[in-house]
Amino acid sequence: MDTKDSIDYLAKPSNVKTVVLLYSGGLDTSVMVKYIQEEYDADVVTLTLDLGQPEVDLKATKQKALDVGAKEAHVINAKKEFAEEFIAKGIKANGLYQGEYPLSTAIARYLVCEKAVELAEEVDADAIAHGATGKGNDQVRFEAGILSLEPDIKLLAPVREWSMTRDAELEYAKKHEIPVEASENSPYSTDENLWGKSSECGPLEDPGNEPPEEVFQFATPPRKAPGEPEYIEISFEEGVPTALNGEELPLHELVKELNHLAGKHGVGIIDMMEDRVVGLKSREVYECPAAVTLIKAHQALEKFVSSKHENQFKEKVDQEWAEYAYNGLWFDPVMDHLEEFIDSMNQNVTGTVELKLYKGSVQVTGRESEKALYDHDLASYEKGETFNQEASPGFIQLHSLQTKLSNEISGGDT
Ligand code: ARG
Repeated sequence: MDTKDSIDYLAKPSNVKTVVLLYSGGLDTSVMVKYIQEEYDADVVTLTLDLGQPEVDLKATKQKALDVGAKEAHVINAKKEFAEEFIAKGIKANGLYQGEYPLSTAIARYLVCEKAVELAEEVDADAIAHGATGKGNDQVRFEAGILSLEPDIKLLAPVREWSMTRDAELEYAKKHEIPVEASENSPYSTDENLWGKSSECGPLEDPGNEPPEEVFQFATPPRKAPGEPEYIEISFEEGVPTALNGEELPLHELVKELNHLAGKHGVGIIDMMEDRVVGLKSREVYECPAAVTLIKAHQALEKFVSSKHENQFKEKVDQEWAEYAYNGLWFDPVMDHLEEFIDSMNQNVTGTVELKLYKGSVQVTGRESEKALYDHDLASYEKGETFNQEASPGFIQLHSLQTKLSNEISGGDT
């Protein structure tokens, strides 16, 4: 592989005949169908994944793609695969970028990459186009992801090259009879799937502004949430949630159900300053009711069944995992190595966690597992305890040995 060959990174790819376009049905990607036809004189085949984004009519999205001129429009129901191959990994890795963001947009991008490369092969496309801007993380995830899977494919990022203002884009849409939905007038840029919703732009760009309640779609604003707490139980097998309140459910359905339950209580709202891959700091608002609840429950159970040393090391591994997942490097072999460790630790993460949902908060209130390393008789202060307290003074002498020596040598001045 040569990174210095004749690539001119600023030049538009030439001789493009068929393009797979990652199509959301929104203004940008609809305009893109026409733009690619005009600029590249190429056929456009659209690809839309059903990742559990609520309130989206994917039949209408498909029809819209065809109406605006796509040669073929593909819609794939990928909810189950998203849950089993991506969300499950995120849960096992307690995947939170910068300690807060459950990576809901991030991990979904890699499944899109996989499907796009498959479709490109099927329809014999020579390029893949996406609607991400030149300032965000998604361009990095799409392009690094696609190239990792198919190094020879051409990539088009029209938003990065067309330098159209929003008004110019609306004008272009009008000229080409591309319908513009009322929701396109929203000031927010959003992305939704089963694992959560991301919102940015508009009033959120001022980090001093509290997010207006109109942003929230997955989570009830906590002040409007029920005045009574609700207790729920989540059961895990080898780190993966398998039942909600005793009912066994496939993961994608469990997540959907929990989004309703925890969302109703205002759980999962995250308002953070985030460090993007491209160096920018940005203000992001997320609603991830199921993700926040499941990661909290998983973490509690994992700590309950693992040794102190395992738990300490797992935190480091989890943090690394989240960095690569965020940074566009999902397909790097380092992820396989990290996941080997993560899976190995998760072999013991079987049991049930009880949680309390109440006005925007989720608290673990109980945990149960046959694999627990907690021993009641050892820990108890009650009658029947089995811990030998007489062994403690000797342990403390040795435990503090170097600290004592060092203080003695420095004359006690620390
Ligand atoms: N900052 C988040 C990420 O990089 C969310 C991006 C969401 N995209 C959007 N169009 N709002 O994963």
